[in-house]
Amino acid sequence: MGHLVCQTCGATYDLDEPRWRCDCGGILDVDLVPAFDPATIGRRPPTLWRYREALPICDDANRVSFSEGFTPIVEMEIEGRTVLVKQEHLFPSGSFKDRGATVLVSKIRELGIRAVVEDSSGNAGCAVAAYCAKAGIECEIFVPADTAEAKLVQIRAYGAKLQRIAGSREDTARAALAAAEKQYYASHVWNPFFLQGTKTFAYEIWEQLGWKVPDTVIVPLGHGTLFLGAYIGFVDLVKAGVAQRVPRLVGVQAAASAPLFEAFARNADDGSPVTKRATLAEGIAIAEPVRGRQILRAVRETGGLILAVDDWEIEQALKAACRQGFYIEPTSAAAIAGIHRYVQKAQPGEVIVSAFTGHGLKATEKLLRLSAQ
Ligand SMILES: Cc1ncc(COP(=O)(O)O)c(C=O)c1O
Ligand SMILES: [Zn+2]
Repeated sequence: MGHLVCQTCGATYDLDEPRWRCDCGGILDVDLVPAFDPATIGRRPPTLWRYREALPICDDANRVSFSEGFTPIVEMEIEGRTVLVKQEHLFPSGSFKDRGATVLVSKIRELGIRAVVEDSSGNAGCAVAAYCAKAGIECEIFVPADTAEAKLVQIRAYGAKLQRIAGSREDTARAALAAAEKQYYASHVWNPFFLQGTKTFAYEIWEQLGWKVPDTVIVPLGHGTLFLGAYIGFVDLVKAGVAQRVPRLVGVQAAASAPLFEAFARNADDGSPVTKRATLAEGIAIAEPVRGRQILRAVRETGGLILAVDDWEIEQALKAACRQGFYIEPTSAAAIAGIHRYVQKAQPGEVIVSAFTGHGLKATEKLLRLSAQ
């Protein structure tokens, strides 16, 4: 059905080997031959599992699912332009990370693994904890000590063991990596099966646009799990011969922590770690993106770009979205702020798709502070 392949040394491994990293330490990707039959897909229930021939799970009995996906697309007026926005905040755990978690945890069940560790700025931890709860898999989630309370409560409520780590997001990642010496690492960043779930974002856009790809896709960018998922998904569609091209991919970072924006501006192949400042967009406050090289390659290959928006722009975009009835978390509003910038130079008629990536109920403290101002 396919195999795991190392980005550094090219080594390959069977998809059924319980590993998340190459022996050389390199990052792994899943290489498979995707297949799509629109007539069959169109007859199936409206969940992301309707693309099952493109997903690396052998036996449907291993599926760990809440019938998630096929999120509705709404139109949003931004600077006088109509932009299409996929409502990814409507997933069961409240963010797009459920796409990755449903496929990753299904694979974990298929591999017979009974306990996992993961680290997250919050939402990926919520998603992995929810799916592990459904599958009865033991789960330990490492988060930075300053993660939003709502996300901590949610992770605990699912029954996961929560480890709050003092210091930076990177300190949290290091603590999880140490724990991953003993337990399987269900990392949304390292583990390639997570991207095999987030890639369904692209498939759904293609189907919802009448089996056509848009011109441009704009998403928030931290570790790049939605960005790379979109890239992999559109490449799959082209590989399978059902789409002609990959859309221009635009990533939006918070100016307070923008290593990939800086690397892109310098024409560098990889990001250098940055010293980050506090930002409203906690979900993308990543100083050392693990898959930075892969993200920058995808940006350049698709003729895309990386934008950096400041907290004032994020706040304005958030308030404007809420006033249109969309209750989203500030990290999601970073992408909307990016669209405000992007559309100034967009072509007439350019079809632009973005996403509300996380629910506003995740960030009550931040939204409370903003509403009091
Ligand atoms: C709501 C929200 N949007 C976007 C992102 C960005 O995802 P990534 O870091 O994988 O780029 C996150 C990450 O946690 C998030 O929580
Ligand atoms: Zn290797």
